[in-house]
Amino acid sequence: MPVIDAKAIPQVAMDFMNDDHEEAVTLLNQLFSALDGGEKTAITQCLEAFFQHNQEHFAREEEEMVRISFPPYSCHKGEHDRVLAELREIITQWSTEADREKLMVYLTETVVPWFTNHIQTMDTVTAMFISRQPA
Ligand SMILES: [Fe+2]
Ligand SMILES: [Fe+2]
Repeated sequence: MPVIDAKAIPQVAMDFMNDDHEEAVTLLNQLFSALDGGEKTAITQCLEAFFQHNQEHFAREEEEMVRISFPPYSCHKGEHDRVLAELREIITQWSTEADREKLMVYLTETVVPWFTNHIQTMDTVTAMFISRQPA
């Protein structure tokens, strides 16, 4: 049973972003199932896969924002950078403490609400802006 239903994730006006958001949900759900009794190494691998996906997903959005000279680029990129730094810090803590409860609380109370909110706000506006650019 997935913790996040991919169908509940808001759709934006650019397919490449929707594909990335669907991939993020898949990786998060794999992480949740690893946390449910999986080995520490499996959880670490899922965390690293999620981090790497975020890096690539955010970079694709940033590349498009630069290409079209999106005015609030630095605001959107700043939020991506903040989340990547926070997630890296959480992975470092996880590698020393291996505290499953703490990681679960971070994922459910910080990452999941952030993800939905970020898509509903910055990603939605960015995708709309990109979609209105002349080809
Ligand atoms: Fe996104
Ligand atoms: Fe974004």
